Amino acid sequence: MNKAALILALVAAPALAEPDARALERLVRQDCGSCHGLTLKGGLGPDIRAQALTHYEAEGLKAVILDGVPGTPMPPWRPLLTEAEAAWIADYLLNGESE
Ligand code: HEC
Repeated sequence: MNKAALILALVAAPALAEPDARALERLVRQDCGSCHGLTLKGGLGPDIRAQALTHYEAEGLKAVILDGVPGTPMPPWRPLLTEAEAAWIADYLLNGESE
């Protein structure tokens, strides 16, 4: 690697710590969708489209995603997602981009 490429790699590296929007969008569709329905309208799990989540603040939603709902099939995602990724998903669900 030449010097310029090395510097570029070092400058670009912190971006990798940002949530990967495309991967998370896929996770919401496929993994959350496996229980909440492909369009998130509900299945085994309830409707999690924005209009069904008005009783949540982003923080509360993030906690449900990270810790699940004990005693129900809603699993905790903490082993798989970082706090930043869960916050991204909460925001994604609340802002209706899941339509
Ligand atoms: C194995 C099935 C399953 C998977 C996978 C799953 N959920 Fe759930 N989820 C449930 C069930 C069942 C409930 C209802 C729990 C209850 O009875 O309160 C639920 C509840 C929720 C709630 C609370 C809804 C409300 O109105 O209180 C949210 C938000 C939620 N899930 C988001 C997600 C997200 C985001 C993902 C993907 C990261 C996900 N779920 C993956 C089964 C699942």
